[in-house]
Amino acid sequence: MGPFAKDLLKDKVVLITGGATGLGRAMGEKFLELGAKLAICGRREDVLKTAASEMSSFGHEVYYKSCDVRDPAQIYELVDSVEKHYGGIDVLVNNAAGNFISPTERLSPRAVDAVLNIVLHGTFYTTLEVGKRWIEKKTSGTMLNIVTTYASTGSGYVVPSAAAKAGVLALTRSLAVEWAPYGIRQVAIAPGPFPTEGAWSRLSPTPDLEQKMIKRIPLARVGDQEELSNLAAYLISDYAGYINGDVITIDGGEWLQGAGQFNDLSEVTDDQWDELAKMTRRGK
Ligand code: HXC
Ligand code: NAP
Repeated sequence: MGPFAKDLLKDKVVLITGGATGLGRAMGEKFLELGAKLAICGRREDVLKTAASEMSSFGHEVYYKSCDVRDPAQIYELVDSVEKHYGGIDVLVNNAAGNFISPTERLSPRAVDAVLNIVLHGTFYTTLEVGKRWIEKKTSGTMLNIVTTYASTGSGYVVPSAAAKAGVLALTRSLAVEWAPYGIRQVAIAPGPFPTEGAWSRLSPTPDLEQKMIKRIPLARVGDQEELSNLAAYLISDYAGYINGDVITIDGGEWLQGAGQFNDLSEVTDDQWDELAKMTRRGK
């Protein structure tokens, strides 16, 4: 049981980059349950093939094609083949990403490019290829970009990702205005920590680091993929038709924990508060 009518996304054709794994796959399964027709891409053909076959148990068949989003020629082929297969595309989800933790001064230029080329350039290329076609054919559509909370704040130790996701957020907001007259809507989701093999192996590879991450979250838990998928389903549905250019954060309050100057006072005990109150009331 979910919050939506079973036909919320009936016959909408959705293309998800990086849709064979992690959050991309979770979103895809939700969209299928709600009646969407799905296409997924990624670099690894074998991973796509297995995922597409397993995901088809959620509804319609799943169309897949290997595509490296760093290469505009491969994106052209991908979009062309999805259009041929389904007759068009209604929703593009830019979900493919690359990331790892590292002190910035340890990065080589190739390491910087490895992330920027997937996240910023890849997202821009797919957006451009799909957007041009929608504009030419005078069809409306929705683009959902998966960013991060640090797209707005920045973050040490994932600096190429932070810079790239900030660029994607700027792309979202810019095109929300420029392409709105064509009936093209832009939305973004900024997830906090949602355990996936891809993210955890590169960003939280030890139990110690994972616990540190969870400790920072006011709701004291990581996200559930179903929570993110439901948000995504709503945002690409016609019910969200007036949301354009916004980024919705889904992080249990994590980024605000870091932002509020006094939030670390949650560590103060009741006895300590009694003592502190004596001091702070002295100013009266
Ligand atoms: C330092 C690294 C590195 C690491 C790679 N490099 N990994 N440097 N620390 N952990 C360097 C390499 O040494 C090389 O530089 C350069 O980066 C390119 O490496 P390749 O392995 O050739 O890159 P490539 O095959 O293109 O792979 C891209 C990748 C990889 C980003 C490095 O991790 C990948 O494919 N990721 C895709 C999936 C992914 O990252 N998912 C997580 C998304 S989570 P030199 O100079 O040595 O040649 C996310 C948000 C999470 O985005 C937010 C959490 C809250
Ligand atoms: P993931 O499973 O590693 O997903 C990344 C996907 O992108 C993979 O399917 C990967 O497939 C694909 N990909 C990478 N490079 C590509 C390329 N050059 N061309 C085409 N596809 C490529 O990790 P995830 O956690 O689900 O992340 C999904 C999205 O959520 C990302 O945008 C990430 O930044 C965002 N996010 C995740 C979290 C989290 O906690 N999990 C938090 C904030 C934001 P191939 O390797 O086969 O190409």
